[in-house]
Formats: sequence, structure tokens, C-alpha cells
Amino acid sequence: MVVLGIESTAHTASVGLVDDTAKVLGVASDMYRPPAGGIHPREAANHHVEVFPRLVEQALAAAKVAPKEIDAVAFSQGPGLGPCLRAGATVARMLALSWDRPLVPVNHCVAHVEIARVLSGLDDPMLLYASGGNTQVIAYARGRYRVLGETLDIGIGNFLDKLWIELGGTFPGGPQLEAEAKRGTELHPLPYSVHGMDVAFSGMLTAALALSGKGIGRPDLAYSVEVTAYSMLTEITERALAHRRGSAVVLGGGVACNERLRGMVREMVEGRGGTTFAPPRALCVDNGAMIAWTGHLAYEAGGSIPVEESVIAPRQRTDLVAAPWRGS
Ligand code: ATP
Ligand code: FE2
Repeated sequence: MVVLGIESTAHTASVGLVDDTAKVLGVASDMYRPPAGGIHPREAANHHVEVFPRLVEQALAAAKVAPKEIDAVAFSQGPGLGPCLRAGATVARMLALSWDRPLVPVNHCVAHVEIARVLSGLDDPMLLYASGGNTQVIAYARGRYRVLGETLDIGIGNFLDKLWIELGGTFPGGPQLEAEAKRGTELHPLPYSVHGMDVAFSGMLTAALALSGKGIGRPDLAYSVEVTAYSMLTEITERALAHRRGSAVVLGGGVACNERLRGMVREMVEGRGGTTFAPPRALCVDNGAMIAWTGHLAYEAGGSIPVEESVIAPRQRTDLVAAPWRGS
């Protein structure tokens, strides 16, 4: 069975195809980059509408798959920016109708979990999901994925992007901060906000900008921000692992591309005798393949819906949707 997945929750428009073994047959993506500042939802949606026809063609060509060989069309239903989600859902409905194939809605956060899980080969890992809009520690229990801990304000990636833009840089800030941080040597104290299983970043943003105002250079600033923020994430992941008596952690989301974060989590998990895994970068960031794979799982568990019911859900939380393919 071949499933085509459409991703469009935020900056990235992407189309991916996978087979029964989660082999990625083809992916084509195009990221909206705002000329200055943060994302404007409608402009991003316009970008997606423009690029989707080409992305569908490119993904099919890369996969060497003809439309008649596709068994189902999956799409990101939420969470995300309304106009962006609408653009992707419209393309998915149109493809499902014109190819006469079932339409399968997918929760974007669950898709980050599932692609990391299948690639890891681990059966029931916990997930540290660190992206632009989301920061959650997730584990499966009784029918759905549960959020054990999360950010109380902004997502870690949005925090990094915002900081970088305030420092005069361009979106996306995370990878550029990572490069700067590699040159940093001095750790400056920043607010360390762990509240039980949760974290918060806005205080650190204010404090980091204040340090910059005092003349602390980008490398030391980036280094201090990375060490502090990723320590917070590592701490809540470790606490969740201890409570669950778990031994495996997978990483997902764009910020999981970060080598320091990967290393810190690996050290913590291996120190406890456990196993950790992070997908290759292209499958950590938003991509159509993870939507296709989760759509594959959902479809086999009876998760297709009529086009009339395929409304987008911009605020659909990870723990709102069932994961019947996981069993009970
Ligand atoms: P979601 O809807 O899941 O919140 P998203 O729209 O934020 O996803 P992703 O592609 O999952 O999209 O993540 C993008 C984020 O990842 C951006 O904030 C970007 O700065 C950050 N990022 C990407 N690479 C790195 C890196 N090497 N280090 C730190 N952050 C990174
Ligand atoms: Fe994402």
C-alpha cells in the first residue's frame, strides 16, 4: 500500500509518499521564508497554494509512483495556522476526490512521534517533541498519546527564532544559533524555568536580550541559551522517564535537529542504561512523509473520513486524538 501525505501546518508545504514498511518513496518540500520578522499566516498560505501543484508532481516523480498506485491521501488536520492548514486540506481533498481514494486526517504532533518511532525500531518509546510551535514530552497510554509535560508559554523553536530575529537575524533562527553556539565559550546565567514537568521560555528571551544589550556577543549568548534551554528539556524528559520507569526516548520536531540537544538527551538516557534515537534531519522537520506514514497507520485502523467531514482543527492537541493502531 502506498499513502501520499500533505503537510502544511506552518512554514513548510510538503508532499511525501511511503509504503507499508515506512520506506520513504519520495518527498518534495518548500519552505516559506518571511522577508523579515516572523510568519504571516496568510502569506505563508498563499505560498503553499502556489507551490503545492509542483510539489505533488515532484514527489510522485521522485517516488516513481503513478496516481493510480496510491491507496490513500493523508493530510495534517492540526494543530497549526488556520490559513496554512486550509491550503493543505484543500489540496488533499482535491486529490482524494479526483483519484477516488480515501482521505485520512492526521494529527501533526502524532506524526512527529510515529515517524520517529518507526525509524527507531523501538516499540514504546517516550518522545521529546521539540519544534517551533510545540514543546512536549509525550508517551502512549490507553488509546492515545498523552502529554506528560510541555511548554507553558512559547515553543522552544519559536523562542530561538524570535531571539535570533531580535538580534538582527533571519528565520529560521535555530540552525543559525546552533552555528554561533559552537563558537561560544562563556556560560552566562539565564532563567532556568522548569515547573514540575513543564518549562517556560519567555523569561529567558527577555534576559537573553538584556545580556545582548550589555554587549555579550552572539556566540556566548547562543551558547548560554542552548545550554540552559536544552538542560531544561533534558530535565523534564528524565523526570518523565523516571516516573514511567521507561528506558527509551526518541526525539522529533525541528529543534531535534540540534546536535547539542541530541547529545544531552543521549547522555542522560544512556546514563540511565536506556536507548535513544533521533530521525535524520529531513524527517525531524515538518515533512509530508511523516503525515503519509501516520495516515497509513490510521487508515489501516479504519481512520478515513468523508470529504464533508474533513474540517481542519487548528487547536487539535496531541492528547485529543485516538491512536487506535497502537492497541490498548
Ligand atoms: P510544529 O507545527 O510541529 O510546531 P514547526 O512548524 O515549528 O512545527 P518544524 O519543522 O518541526 O516546524 O520545526 C521548525 C523549528 O525548528 C524552527 O523553529 C527552527 O528554528 C528549528 N530548528 C531547525 N533546525 C534547528 C537546529 N539545528 N537547532 C535548533 N533549532 C532548529
Ligand atoms: Fe512540526
